[in-house]
Amino acid sequence: MSVKILVGTQWGDEGKGRVTHVLAKDAKAVVRCTGGNNAGHTIVANGEKFAMHLLPSAIIREEVQCIIGNGVVIDPAVLIKEITQINARGFSTDNLFISDRAHVILPHHKTLDNLQEALKGDNKIGTTGRGIGPAYAEKCSRTGVRICDLYDKETFVQQLTNSAKTNNCIFAANGIPNIDVEAVWEEYSEYADFLKKHVCDSSYMIHNIMRNKENIVLEGAQAMYLDIDHGTYPYVTSSNPIASGACTGSGIGPTYITDVIGILKGYTSRVGEGPFPTEQNNEIGDLIRELGHEYGTTTGRPRRCGWLDLVMIKQAVDTNGITGLCINHIDTIGKLPEIKVCIGYEYFGTEISYVPTDYANCKPIYKTFIGNWDASGITEHDDLPETAKVYIRYIETFTGVSVQYIGVGPDEKETIIK
Ligand code: GDP
Ligand code: IMO
Ligand code: MG
Repeated sequence: MSVKILVGTQWGDEGKGRVTHVLAKDAKAVVRCTGGNNAGHTIVANGEKFAMHLLPSAIIREEVQCIIGNGVVIDPAVLIKEITQINARGFSTDNLFISDRAHVILPHHKTLDNLQEALKGDNKIGTTGRGIGPAYAEKCSRTGVRICDLYDKETFVQQLTNSAKTNNCIFAANGIPNIDVEAVWEEYSEYADFLKKHVCDSSYMIHNIMRNKENIVLEGAQAMYLDIDHGTYPYVTSSNPIASGACTGSGIGPTYITDVIGILKGYTSRVGEGPFPTEQNNEIGDLIRELGHEYGTTTGRPRRCGWLDLVMIKQAVDTNGITGLCINHIDTIGKLPEIKVCIGYEYFGTEISYVPTDYANCKPIYKTFIGNWDASGITEHDDLPETAKVYIRYIETFTGVSVQYIGVGPDEKETIIK
């Protein structure tokens, strides 16, 4: 039996969805544990491209149970749209299960997200505007609505009325109409009817799968440096995308985890604001963006691009307990003649090898590698060009973790298992 956590080690978009789909081949279940439809996970299978936001990335494998865990925040309208779209492409969603404990994104969460961003002005976070932060804040304030509450009018109305007491003050001050509790109930109870057959006690279901000694993949969303505790606060998301968040968000105890796979790209990208010391806000960054098609899956925003930062990855290894790495976009980075990798920081006259709270003050110290390799179409590690192997070996040595999977293209088949 294996319980594998797949975790992003950078600022998201490392290719988690693609690897989840690949590893799900041998799994009984795939679980999304944190985040919401701020995630955008791309899968290319049988020549078809899929972009998932809330649906677990194994949904097109109809034999795999796809679970949206308790740690996810769910916008029901978005989920219903995704279900409808995937059904229209010929895939069943009878394999979808939704935790009755997951919190619900309500209309006022999206209003608050956009209002807070607008009020911050130049200091905005650059959120996806999907209501993620306010939904998690409400969960912590204990005024949230869970999926189970969509089937219990009394609790729903009580929770939303309590929430409205505070939020209507903010809305009134900004010329925004009050929350109409009854109208939201009407709207959301329709969504609830649609989703009802998928709703279950997901932790109980997961525990039974483990009791039967079957394999589980926990699909990470976002990444270590977007983590509310360990990321580049305040330029982070509002959940814990790190490995321990996957335990909380699924209801699996840490001692049951057998593998933690850290996912990275051969370079770094970031969407939204916040420090990014190895960013190449120049023709190199533009080239990486074009070669890697680095445009947001969720918002379409151009992603900021730069060199791989191994200090970040090493810290992610320790924080997540990473047991193996997956490096994607080895094909993309090999197209550059010369590749730089950050191996330390110059920080107020000294050299450091960790990510401090004032990360923007770090000046990267680089090591240079020869690129110009062609990794496309390669299926065996031994067949990779020697220059690519040197690059990968260095990452292994620096982090102290072996590379288990190498992505050489977006397709499911373009994955080298080392
Ligand atoms: P996620 O959010 O971590 O699932 O990643 P995204 O799907 O948002 O972004 C990853 C992008 O890179 C997608 O467009 C993938 O199709 C693509 N991709 C993933 N792995 C590879 C790879 O090894 N090579 C290339 N060329 N593209 C990849
Ligand atoms: P996947 O799962 C990249 C970023 C946003 C913003 C910050 C906060 O596809 O890797 P939020 O809407 O979560 O409050 O925004 O986090 N962000 C992501 N960046 N990939 C993601 O998900 C992201 N999810 C959130 O751009 O900077
Ligand atoms: Mg993404």
